[in-house]
Amino acid sequence: MKTNEIRELFIRYFEDNGHQAVESSPLVPGNDPTLLFTNAGMVQFKDVFLGNDDRAYSRAVSSQRCLRAGGKHNDLENVGYTTRHHTFFEMLGNFSFGDYFKEEAIHLAWNFITEELKLDKDRLWVTIFEDDDEAASIWLDQIGIQSDRLVRMGKESNFWSMGDTGPCGPCSEIFYDHGSDIHGGPPGSKDEDGDRFVEIWNLVFMQFDRQDDGTMNPLPKPSVDTGMGLERIAAVMQNVHSNYDIDLFQNLLSAIKNISNQGDDSHYRVIADHIRSTAFLIADGVTPGNEGRGYVLRRIIRRALRHGYELEIQTPFFFSLIFPF
Ligand code: SER
Repeated sequence: MKTNEIRELFIRYFEDNGHQAVESSPLVPGNDPTLLFTNAGMVQFKDVFLGNDDRAYSRAVSSQRCLRAGGKHNDLENVGYTTRHHTFFEMLGNFSFGDYFKEEAIHLAWNFITEELKLDKDRLWVTIFEDDDEAASIWLDQIGIQSDRLVRMGKESNFWSMGDTGPCGPCSEIFYDHGSDIHGGPPGSKDEDGDRFVEIWNLVFMQFDRQDDGTMNPLPKPSVDTGMGLERIAAVMQNVHSNYDIDLFQNLLSAIKNISNQGDDSHYRVIADHIRSTAFLIADGVTPGNEGRGYVLRRIIRRALRHGYELEIQTPFFFSLIFPF
């Protein structure tokens, strides 16, 4: 299944389940000085979760362009060294604003991946927040997941927040096992950072609004925010073990290979990723600079150039990849 088809299927599935399809917002969050970049699908709905913005709908679905470089969620230094990290990516998400909560969120997600995408249930693992017995019982008693594939995790990995302040809550993540030929261990094990067990979907049960001093105020209504990385699920659906082997990256990688010497795959991954973030940041109005967003963009370009020099790409060729016209 092509990446574009997965995106369409996701949106349609949630529309059929009563969700309003909402366009992606820009990478620069409107009116939110607490965030450098849109780092998740929920960012454009922050005020809806907080009860400060009323919408005509209480369920939404989107495919949101995201950037994770700088700020709380920062994957810049991972890019190149794993097959699953990006600075720029698309996040598929469904949202409930005081409508459904844990039970329906889990059923909707499970039904999508097992019935629509038809993923092999034997390859799926689930994590929950350590004391979330309610989520545990939904997974074990209603969904029927095997107890040895349900892992309780601490707040580092299973309590999600957008930034230092704002909406947050415990989460439950779904992992896909790419198989024993790939290095890595299940979530919670000492080898969990390998590429074998990859988190494909995060279901956040939004319940609190974190304040500057760390106080957690309850949200007006318990809500749901989920995020599934489009490139990661495309890798699963296309039977490849690296996001960079999916259809979306093929033209970009061959363009890089055409103007470079041969080198380690990590260089190609870095350049392909950073070209996407650079192009989308510039399209959303960010220009390279000495501070804030502009400085992050400058660092991304510099990092791509550094890897380009390793492949002996000349600077003008490099820029022709970002600005092909
Ligand atoms: N906000 C959560 C995340 O980014 C779920 O969308 O993982």
